[in-house]
Amino acid sequence: MENREIKNCTIENIDNIYEIDKTSSSYNWKKNMFIDELKNKNSFFKVLYINDIIVGYIIYHIIIDEAEILNIVIDNKYKRQAFGKYLLEQALKTLSEKNIKTIFLEVGEKNIPAINLYLQFGFKEYNKRINYYKNKETAILMKKIL
Ligand SMILES: CC(C)(COP(=O)(O)OP(=O)(O)OC[C@H]1O[C@@H](n2cnc3c(N)ncnc32)[C@H](O)[C@@H]1OP(=O)(O)O)[C@@H](O)C(=O)NCCC(=O)NCCS
Repeated sequence: MENREIKNCTIENIDNIYEIDKTSSSYNWKKNMFIDELKNKNSFFKVLYINDIIVGYIIYHIIIDEAEILNIVIDNKYKRQAFGKYLLEQALKTLSEKNIKTIFLEVGEKNIPAINLYLQFGFKEYNKRINYYKNKETAILMKKIL
C-alpha cells in the first residue's frame, strides 16, 4: 500500500530537492535559495514522500494574514499522478487553519500545467508582469481569497 507523508524540508534533503528542481522545472533555483528558505522563519518548505521517496515539494511564505506560494514542483517521473494537487490541497488546508485571508503567487504565462492547477483551486489572475522571468516570459499574478 502507498505510504504518503508530507514532512518539513531539512538540510539533508537539499541536494535531492535541487536535482528535482533542475530536472523537472523550467524556473530553476540556485542551491543557496533553497538553503535560505530553511533559515527563513516565514517560510514553510514541505516535502512530499511516497513510500519514502521524495516526489516533490512546495514552498510558501506566511506574513500576518497573507501567504505567497513561491514554488511547487513534482519530479518528472511522478507528474500527472495528482501529487501536485495533493501538495497544494494540503498547503491550502494549513493556510486556512492559520486564518490566512489571501494567497498570492506568480506563474509563467506559458506554464499551462501550473496555471491549470491553480485555476482548479480557485486562484484568479489579477495582474501581469511583462518580461518578468529571465527568459522574458511574462508572469501572471494570481490570488485566492480564503
Ligand atoms: C505544476 C505541477 C506541480 C503539477 O504537478 P502534477 O503532480 O504533475 O499535477 P497533478 O497530477 O496533481 O494535476 C493537477 C492538475 O494540474 C493540471 N495539469 C497538470 N499537468 C498538466 C499538463 N501537463 N497539462 C495540462 N494541465 C496539467 C491539471 O489541471 C490537473 O488536473 P486534472 O488531472 O484534473 O486534469 C508540475 O507540472 C510541475 O512540477 N511543473 C514544473 C514546476 C513548475 O512550473 N511549478 C509551478 C511554479 S509557479
